[in-house]
Amino acid sequence: MKEDLYKEVLQTISALTEDETDVISIMSTVCCEVFHAFQHFNWVGIYRLVDEQTLKVGPYQGSHGCLTIDIGRGVCGKCVREKSIQIVNDVSKIPHHIACSAETQSEIVLPIYDKNKRLVAVLDIDSVEAHSFDETDRKYLETITRCIEKGYQA
Ligand code: SME
Repeated sequence: MKEDLYKEVLQTISALTEDETDVISIMSTVCCEVFHAFQHFNWVGIYRLVDEQTLKVGPYQGSHGCLTIDIGRGVCGKCVREKSIQIVNDVSKIPHHIACSAETQSEIVLPIYDKNKRLVAVLDIDSVEAHSFDETDRKYLETITRCIEKGYQA
């Protein structure tokens, strides 16, 4: 069951990153554990907000992702502009989706904040199945982003 899997993934991530303060190490661990836990995820990665207008790819798992995204574009850009979680049930139905893989059918993007509540990155997850993401994903992936935010506490 999806919730049981998320509980296991969260426990693993928490244990592996318990004493970790390096944000890239935490990001890399999160992407690895989430990607390998769910067979239908074909891309799990971080985009970092490197200036007011630009997202740059960070740690990720899956086929190559675009390196740079202007926040005026894509589901990731919308997440930054609106500072809110984006769930796309069918990427073919939205014109602003940036397709890094033809296999992607649905997507979720979550904002990541630093200790001053500034949006500093997004967690982007693609699935090869449509309608993959629901309230359970939202709940547990939000908790997982808190693990990454630990790396922005310095
Ligand atoms: N689909 C994202 C772009 C990143 S690739 O999926 C890794 C978007 O529309 O912003």
